[in-house]
Amino acid sequence: MITKQSIENLKNSIDIVDTVSSHIQLRKSGANYKANCPFHDEKTASFVVSPAKQIYHCFGCQAGGDSIKFVMEIEKLNYPEALEKLADQNNITLEYEQNDYKKQDTSIMQKLNDYYVRQLDSNHTATQYLKDRGIWQTTIEKFAIGYASSSGDTINFLKTNMLNLNDAREFGVVDISDTGMYARLNDRIIFPIMTNSGKICGFGGRTVTGHMAKYINSPQTKLFNKSKILYGYDKAAQDIHKKKQVIISEGYLDVVMLHQAGWTNTVATMGTALTKEHLPLLSRGEPEVLLAFDGDKAGRDATLKASRLLAQNSFDGSVVLFGDGIDPADMIKEGNIKELNDIFLSKIPFVKFIIDETIATYDIANPYQKKQCLDELLIFLKTLDDIIAHEYKPYLSSKLNIQPQYVRLNNTQRKRENDISLVAKDIAELSVIKTAISSDEMFDIVVDSLNEDMFGTHKMEFNMLFDDTQNPKLIELGLTDNISTLSTQELGFQITMMTIKHYKTQLIQTKQDISMSFKQKAIKIKELQKKIKELA
Ligand code: UTP
Ligand code: MN
Repeated sequence: MITKQSIENLKNSIDIVDTVSSHIQLRKSGANYKANCPFHDEKTASFVVSPAKQIYHCFGCQAGGDSIKFVMEIEKLNYPEALEKLADQNNITLEYEQNDYKKQDTSIMQKLNDYYVRQLDSNHTATQYLKDRGIWQTTIEKFAIGYASSSGDTINFLKTNMLNLNDAREFGVVDISDTGMYARLNDRIIFPIMTNSGKICGFGGRTVTGHMAKYINSPQTKLFNKSKILYGYDKAAQDIHKKKQVIISEGYLDVVMLHQAGWTNTVATMGTALTKEHLPLLSRGEPEVLLAFDGDKAGRDATLKASRLLAQNSFDGSVVLFGDGIDPADMIKEGNIKELNDIFLSKIPFVKFIIDETIATYDIANPYQKKQCLDELLIFLKTLDDIIAHEYKPYLSSKLNIQPQYVRLNNTQRKRENDISLVAKDIAELSVIKTAISSDEMFDIVVDSLNEDMFGTHKMEFNMLFDDTQNPKLIELGLTDNISTLSTQELGFQITMMTIKHYKTQLIQTKQDISMSFKQKAIKIKELQKKIKELA
């Protein structure tokens, strides 16, 4: 890892205007600079660079961030890669934490894979196996597929080439047992797993001898984090960004075969479910996501889980369903390209799929079960963006054969703000939030005196203050002219108004509450009236 100190140092020495203008032409506009946004097609400039805030923001597509983010986005690099690039450009030397793998020589992984590749060439069983699976020689080369023979052979190779055995152990290639050192992968076809920048960080091995464990992957090491990496991403990245679509399959062979058949925007999870940790990588370039898992029970379950995760994180995408026991690799091997294409075309959007699968687990001919099913789906729909949830109202009511008014999503309904149609309440709430992000002092005042219940339409932005201050919505708010930053006095006034309003709402609710006794009500009402009076 690059040290915090050295990242700070870099941040202080780079300038957003320099960084951006080394990629696109900027025009001065008041205190800021403007340009046509490099992240989406546009004819009028809505891309703004603020030297005072050291950020960029596009009012058209919401892209935005600091210099580092800009380099990450425009060059499709990850965070450390972008830091290294910026450091290079600005003649700054980065420092790394001691024992860092960046300092450590990882070339052993590449050397080992070169060896596996040579082993494959000289092993008839393994090459024949790949041929039988329908894999072409050019594909074998593209994915640098190899073969690990016996454990002894691998250890011998490491020793005769005087490669560092401690590194080999640390990177999960070899381990030590009572009987001595052994290679983790043997008698297996080897799929090297690369980081996004194309460096080998782990291996997956498929048995060719009918071993009980069909696949063995490298263990979790400091190079290899299975729940973050997607197999094939390094090779698929360019096409993912071009097509604005990413296909997620289940296995190494699916990736290899789909690439071979032209679906070069395919990646795979590696024997684990899709996790939250995968999402940052998947969201690069905001592609549509297609889940193309196996057609067996395990694959279907994984599809349901993954589509929930993706839908709830606002990913647009669909699922592609295969018949039981079928996966894309098999179809390609059989030459069923047209059928495969049709399957991809008959994709089902995540939310629709989730609704269908959930309904299938109930007997909706029974009114009680129907009601339970509806309740379960309402809970799910309410975790989605309002607009998306509402889009599926007619679909859900027709599938359950109930009146649309029973699909009640409204209690969580939030009005989507739109700068043009801001009403007074929006302006008040937004100016409080904008003020909170203007300084640490104001931030403390706002979060100490308000809570999310006091916000009407902008709860979401208020909550971002706690854990998502880099959210484009907040950044855009910071740059919007028609919402102003408040003085301490104005802020105090606004907080009082919101608090009073909150108590008044509570007052009304208490009066209408039929679950409270008269005595309880009287006490609560009195308490609230007192609070309101004090504030007013
Ligand atoms: P599959 O069993 O569907 O693999 O598991 P596959 O790629 O279709 O296998 P074959 O070679 O065509 O028969 C999907 C993925 O799950 C992981 C691997 O990443 C595999 O590609 N897996 C599977 C394991 O990690 N271990 C296993 O024992 C099996
Ligand atoms: Mn499979």
